[in-house]
Amino acid sequence: FSVGGLSLLSCGGGGTTGSSSGQGSGTLSKQSLNIPGYFLFPDGQRVSITAKWTTLEVIPGKSTDMLVYEIDNEYNPVIFLRKGQTFSADFVNNSGEDSIIHWHGFRAPWKSDGHPYYAVKDGETYSYPDFTIIDRSGTYFYHPHPHGRTGYQVYYGLAGMIIIEDEDEDNLKQALDLEYGVIDIPLIIQDKTFDSSGQLVYNPMGHMGFWGDTILVNLTPNPYMDVERKIYRFRILNGSNARPYRLALLRGNQRMRFWVIGVEGGLLDTPKEVNEILVAPGERIDILVDFRDASVNDVIKLYNFPHNLIGMGMIGMRMGMGMERGMGMGNGMNMDMGMADNSEFEVMEFRVTKDSAYDKSIPQRLSEVTPINTDGAQVQRITLGMRRMVFTINGETWEDGYANPQDINNPKVLFEQNNGDVVIIEYVNNTGMYHPMHIHGFQFQVLERSLGPLRATDLGWKDTVIVAPMETVRIAVDMSHPYNEHQIYLLHCHILEHHDEGMMVNYRVNA
Ligand code: C2O
Ligand code: CU
Ligand code: CU
Repeated sequence: FSVGGLSLLSCGGGGTTGSSSGQGSGTLSKQSLNIPGYFLFPDGQRVSITAKWTTLEVIPGKSTDMLVYEIDNEYNPVIFLRKGQTFSADFVNNSGEDSIIHWHGFRAPWKSDGHPYYAVKDGETYSYPDFTIIDRSGTYFYHPHPHGRTGYQVYYGLAGMIIIEDEDEDNLKQALDLEYGVIDIPLIIQDKTFDSSGQLVYNPMGHMGFWGDTILVNLTPNPYMDVERKIYRFRILNGSNARPYRLALLRGNQRMRFWVIGVEGGLLDTPKEVNEILVAPGERIDILVDFRDASVNDVIKLYNFPHNLIGMGMIGMRMGMGMERGMGMGNGMNMDMGMADNSEFEVMEFRVTKDSAYDKSIPQRLSEVTPINTDGAQVQRITLGMRRMVFTINGETWEDGYANPQDINNPKVLFEQNNGDVVIIEYVNNTGMYHPMHIHGFQFQVLERSLGPLRATDLGWKDTVIVAPMETVRIAVDMSHPYNEHQIYLLHCHILEHHDEGMMVNYRVNA
């Protein structure tokens, strides 16, 4: 591979080259990485979260109209929770359209999960029934989940991180002197497209979903962060609508090692040394980087490399779709978008500015991950296909009877299980496009994938798993829940445009 100076998109005649920024940020200089504010969610107190429009300065000197979640005067703060506490929230919807917040990754009771059946109209409030946080320490995700509008609302800004803490996290914090915003850093990676005035453009392209020309980290375009020669923890959340990232750290043109320490459902048992990770929309990958592997004055690039998650057929189809719709023709983006799917670009850089007296080491042990016993498990085979230009799950979409049920307590479900059942879900992808498959209600363990060994990012407790084109992936789910009524949960693709177009179904777990 070659590195350095490659543009994310060589925007046709536009001549934007030499940086990872596209239309909106042009020749923008490096920006210091934004660190989101945080909110310590009080135990048992009712907290009000408001979705509303506001204007932010994302591109320096320009205004961008965006949707935000406002909590206690912070926009999209990182919400901190302690395992075992009571979660009590009101969602105030001033977004201008139907919405509901989903707590992605939580094993919440379904009436508090943000199922689209509970979306409220503009001007209305949804009071989530209180529930106890039973999840492990880790990095979670809050975002809207109304039927058909999730992609739009996330794109315009409704997305934030949740951090749950427990004793395992306390130990790690102590071992590494972790401090939020100092050496424990959220990296919410999103791709967006800005017009010349700084406004967002949302133009999903057919089956590919939305792929933007500007990469943002924590809403910072062209970001950098100063670091010392210490171990840092980065909580990577792919908050993009459709784009997966294959990330590596480059020191010059050498890859640096780093360690995966956690995924969606929290810490792994032990750190796994890697030199790259794949991160799909909805996934959270928790990593440690030891900047003592670099020298003062080094610039370490977080870099995206080509991947094979999109079949050639899909790229062709996408370019065709773009032309049909006349997307991007004016600025010459159209032809390049296919290449951007598989291009190299910089996501951000870390500038090693300081040495420090520091003697910590990568911990040997993080947590306990007990494998799910799959003896006697039932198998649910879930085929991912396509029908009349829409991706399907076992031949169905949300519009095939799942949307608008007569009785929301008894809606159509794809399958039904009993509390305590262990289920093997076998995803069979018969399409040329990858699908990051997500379930609500439970964390699962990945058992095997047909097109290669499990990756470090497949280990531990997961809620979203990459299923590559033509791949079969088996996961184990222990459907034990502590709730005394039946639960209706979603199973869907986390490419938000696929999910909005109906690549989503319900399943039911009895009490
Ligand atoms: Cu993050 Cu049902 O989604
Ligand atoms: Cu979810
Ligand atoms: Cu999909």
